[in-house]
Amino acid sequence: MTKTILCIVGTRPEAIKMAPVILALRREPWAKVVVVATAQHRELADEVLSLFGIEPDVDLDLMQPNQKLADLTARALVGLDRVIGETSPDMVIAQGDTTSVMAAATACFYRQVPFLHVEAGLRSFDMQNPFPEEFNRIVASRIATLHFAPTASARRHLLDEKVPEGDIVVTGNTVIDALHMVAAQDLPLPVAIAPDRRLVLVTVHRRENFGEPIQGICRAILTLVEEHDDVEVLWPVHPNPNVTGVAHALLGTNPRVHLVKPQPYGGFVAAMKRAHLILSDSGGVQEEAPALARPVLVLRRETERPEAIEAGVVRLIGTDSDVILRHGRELLSDADAYRRMARGESPYGDGHASGRIVEAIKARFLSS
Ligand code: UD1
Ligand code: UDP
Repeated sequence: MTKTILCIVGTRPEAIKMAPVILALRREPWAKVVVVATAQHRELADEVLSLFGIEPDVDLDLMQPNQKLADLTARALVGLDRVIGETSPDMVIAQGDTTSVMAAATACFYRQVPFLHVEAGLRSFDMQNPFPEEFNRIVASRIATLHFAPTASARRHLLDEKVPEGDIVVTGNTVIDALHMVAAQDLPLPVAIAPDRRLVLVTVHRRENFGEPIQGICRAILTLVEEHDDVEVLWPVHPNPNVTGVAHALLGTNPRVHLVKPQPYGGFVAAMKRAHLILSDSGGVQEEAPALARPVLVLRRETERPEAIEAGVVRLIGTDSDVILRHGRELLSDADAYRRMARGESPYGDGHASGRIVEAIKARFLSS
């Protein structure tokens, strides 16, 4: 008996984390996989899907420049509702906590279609940080009928919210599956970095960091570069105009700060491998960098990914430029402190999460 499965992909990290699931489901003879790109991200998500050889079956083409949350949500909900109506799926799968995921879960609720949530149970316990993702992931959990928790602590959060134990499967995070698929490639960096230079890799995109926080991050980066002659910064700048404008205005002229376009996934992984230190507010980077033994300073006030922090391989430091400077200076000058963070402890998965997800779907939907 064939099961029709809608796989929803909205943004770059969803494409990265859903690709291993989509590829694993496509190998199953019983699964009719329909990939739906909301295109909340246009070129960032397209690039990842094509890297993994995935062509969307449906493309809602939602992205607009500097899109606003309510408008994006409304258009995603209407578009996804229509696709669900047209394809009558047996289930819908989505990953994470973006607007696309919240809209997919809501559309499933209205249509009474089972919603399966990948990377379920992450919580910062602060509705404003990250904004609006904490809200999105809570909505997704309330609606999901099967929850793929990446870690034991994510499972505990769901149990605390009265999700039935039998509806939760701890799978590991599919980002590590994706990382394993591309990490062996040794791609060139977008700018040549001399072997004796230490590379500091930066990414910033969170909405709560727009304005003064990003400015503070830029000021700290500039000072770190001025204080350390052997440091070069590579920052693939997120195309959100709230990020590009500030980054280019404050850092655009320093010859050792390389502001480049967002990198294809394989190239970005190569940059993480080459990096001495990573400064980021990204969720995915917090999960990948520990697997590559690279220390991360997380430029956020809260994180829903405490495991690597508890392991001591990631530090949550916020966006105050003095605090960023203190931690940056320490890791650039204290070899022991650096070594303690660059241990390669990887709490987020073993590269087999997508296989576990497929097995859990079979157990739930094919057994009766
Ligand atoms: C979104 C998600 C965030 C996720 C992030 C991953 C929401 C509310 N936010 O944030 O949870 O961590 O994606 O990167 O769901 N843009 C382009 N081209 C692209 C992608 C974006 O030009 O391929 C520009 C557009 O101007 C767009 C803007 O970036 O309007 C913001 O995109 P949006 O998806 O709303 O927010 P992100 O900050 O990317
Ligand atoms: N990434 C990428 N190219 C870049 C920057 C990031 O491929 O230039 C990857 C990164 O390896 C990670 C994912 O994008 O897997 C994280 O995406 P992002 O930081 O946009 O979103 P978040 O994870 O915070 O939701």
